[in-house]
Formats: sequence, C-alpha cells, structure tokens
Amino acid sequence: MTQKDLFKAAKKAHKKAYAPYSNFHVGAAILDEKGQIHIGCNVENASYPVGCCAEQSAVSQMIVNGGKTIKDILIIGKKGEPCPPCGACRQIIFEHADENTIIHLETTNGEFTKRTIKEILPEAFDHSFLNK
Ligand code: THU
Repeated sequence: MTQKDLFKAAKKAHKKAYAPYSNFHVGAAILDEKGQIHIGCNVENASYPVGCCAEQSAVSQMIVNGGKTIKDILIIGKKGEPCPPCGACRQIIFEHADENTIIHLETTNGEFTKRTIKEILPEAFDHSFLNK
C-alpha cells in the first residue's frame, strides 16, 4: 500500500463530494490496521451547520467496516493546495489514531507532507476528561 494508492482512493471520494454551497470538494482516504482502505467525501446541507466533512465520512466508513485504528489518512481539497483538517476533524482523527498515525497533506501539485496527530492537535480532549 503506497501513498499513491491512498491518493487514488481519496481522488475517487473527492469526485463524489456533495458540495453545492461551497463548491469546495474534499476527499479523504484512510488505511486501517488491517490494511483496508476507507474513503469519504464532504456532504453539505441546505441547513449549513448540518454538513459533514470528508474525514468524518471516512472514519464512519472505517468503523462500519470493522477498522479500529487509522494508520494513514490522506486528505485532498483544491488540487495543488493543502487541505488541513478542520478542528473538529482533528479531534475525530485523534480518537481513532495512535502516535504513529500519519496524516498526509498535499503541498504543491503532486507532493505531500506528513504530520502526526500530536503535531496538528497538541492538546486533544480525550476520554480521561470524562467520568465514565
Ligand atoms: N471540509 C472538509 O470536508 N474537511 C475539512 O477538514 C475542512 C472542510 C469541507 C466542509 C465544507 O463542506 C467544505 O469543506 C468547505 O468548508
């Protein structure tokens, strides 16, 4: 499984994005601990706050398909530009990541940079704050 495979998968999702309001298509592809790939796109709604981000859709797919941990996640927005995950998506990725999870972000056309979840979300809200 290469970065190219994840890019291809994210591209497939990106094409399907339902973004009639922002016209900003996002695609995400996750590689889980079993080697399965899960994809997601953003899905907007006429009631603007109800929309769903691509990363969240991809995590839902991973969960429903029995994946537990994100080993890699690659996110694409506008071609040749970075699409850093929004704050909510960072939190969602964190919940299903480990310290080795790699977040692949597009830089310039055809190139990607790698981040860890700790780098993009240094202070996550985790289960330890909850009284379970
Ligand atoms: N969007 C994502 O899908 N993921 C992000 O991390 C950032 C933003 C979507 C939400 C909305 O449909 C569009 O991009 C513009 O904000």
